[in-house]
Amino acid sequence: MAERRDVVIIGAGAAGMMCAIEAGRRGRRVLVIDHARAPGEKIRISGGGRCNFTNIHAGPKNFLSANPHFCKSALARYTPRDFLDLVERHRIPWHEKTLGQLFCDNSAKDIIAMLLAEMKAAGAELRLSTTIDAVEHDGNAFRIVTESGIVEAASLVVATGGKSIPKMGATGFAYRIAEQFGLPVVETRAGLVPLMLDPATLAAHEGLPGVAVDVIARHGKTEFREAALFTHRGLSGPAILQISSYWRDGEEISLAIRPDVDFAAVIAAARRANGRQALQTVLAEHMPKKLAQLLVTELGIDGPLAEQPGRRIDALVQRLGDWRLRPPGSEGYRTAEVTLGGVDTAALDSRSMAARAVPGLYFIGEAVDVTGWLGGYNFQWAWASGHAAGQDV
Ligand code: FDA
Repeated sequence: MAERRDVVIIGAGAAGMMCAIEAGRRGRRVLVIDHARAPGEKIRISGGGRCNFTNIHAGPKNFLSANPHFCKSALARYTPRDFLDLVERHRIPWHEKTLGQLFCDNSAKDIIAMLLAEMKAAGAELRLSTTIDAVEHDGNAFRIVTESGIVEAASLVVATGGKSIPKMGATGFAYRIAEQFGLPVVETRAGLVPLMLDPATLAAHEGLPGVAVDVIARHGKTEFREAALFTHRGLSGPAILQISSYWRDGEEISLAIRPDVDFAAVIAAARRANGRQALQTVLAEHMPKKLAQLLVTELGIDGPLAEQPGRRIDALVQRLGDWRLRPPGSEGYRTAEVTLGGVDTAALDSRSMAARAVPGLYFIGEAVDVTGWLGGYNFQWAWASGHAAGQDV
C-alpha cells in the first residue's frame, strides 16, 4: 500500500524547507524526503558557520541565468525583508557584515532550527536518510519509490540543489528528473569557485600563497571590487569567486591591484622624495611586501628608483591596473559554492516554479538555472523560489 500526501518535496535544503513551510501553512499534507542524515547541511557550513542568509540589496541584477527576467517574480514576492522578519520573530541575533550581507551573530544552526520549528508548526513531515529509487507518474499522481516504501502525491517538488560539494551529498538528481520528464537542462558548471593557475605561474608566485589584496577583478565588462587571495593552487577570495561565475575554462581575467591608489602619482612622488629607494619599497606601502617583490621581479626591475627608465615604470603601472592572468581551469565542483546552469527556466512558470508541460511537477532553488553572486543571494533565491512553489502546490 502506498502512503498518500498532497505534496512530496525531495531535498531538505534551504529551498525545500521553505517550500514545506509555505505549503504546510496552506493546509497541504507535506512530506519532505532527503537522503542525508541531517537537514540543511549546506546552511550549516555556509558563511563560515554563521550563514550569510540574505542580502538586503538582492535583486534580479545579482543573478546569472539564460533568462535574466525569470527570477523577478519570485524575488519580488518574497524579499530579504520577509526573511529577516522571520529571523527576528525567532529572535535570532544577526548583523550586516559588508555590502548588505546579513549573517547570524552566533551560528548557522539557528537558521536550521528556525526552519525546522516553522515546518513543525505548519505540520510538514521530514523523512531523512531515505534513498529515492525511482519517480513515476501515472497521469494523475507522482509515485515516489523509496527504499522504505512508496509515497503518492499530486505535487512533486524537486529541491535537491546542484552538484557542488559532492562530499556533502550533492547529486545531479534534479537534472535526471528533468530529463526523465522531457524538460531541458542548461549545461551545468562550477560557480563561485577558486581558479587554478598553471605550474609555471605558480612557481613564479612562490611565497605568495596566503597573501590577500584589494582588487578589481574583471572579465569582459563584468567587474567586482573585493579581496583576492593567492593560494597554493591559484587564486581565491571573494573577488575571484565572483568573477569565476562569468569566466569559462581557459579565458583571461584581469586584476587591478589596489584600485584606490594612483600608482603613477605615488611612484613619481617617491622618486622626487628619495630616488635611492627601491621600487618594491614604495609599492609595499600599498600592498603586501611579497606581492610588491613579485611584481617588480616579473618585470625585471632592479636597483634604485631614480635609475629606472620611464618605460619600465609605465609597464609596472600598466600591470598594476590590468594584470592579465589565464587560469587553465577552476577547482570544480569539489570546492564550488554553487552550480551554474540547471533546469531550463524556459520550461518553468516564473510565478510558481511549476513545469509547464508536466502538471504538478516543480523545481526550486539551486537546481534551477538561476545562480546568485556571492553574498547571501543564493539563499535569497532558495527562500524566494521555495516560497513561490509553496504557494502553488
Ligand atoms: P541544497 O543543496 O541546500 O539542498 C539540497 C538537499 O537535497 C540536500 O539536503 C541534499 O542532501 C538533498 N539531496 C540531494 N540529492 C538528493 C537525492 N538524490 N535524494 C534525496 N535528497 C537529495 N549561499 C548564500 O546565500 N550564503 C552563504 O553564506 C553561502 N555559503 C555557502 C558555503 C558553501 C561552502 C557552499 C557549498 C555553498 C554556500 N552557499 C551560500 C550556497 C547555498 O548553500 C546554496 O545555494 C543553497 O544551499 C541552495 O539551496 P537548495 O535548497 O537549492 O539546495
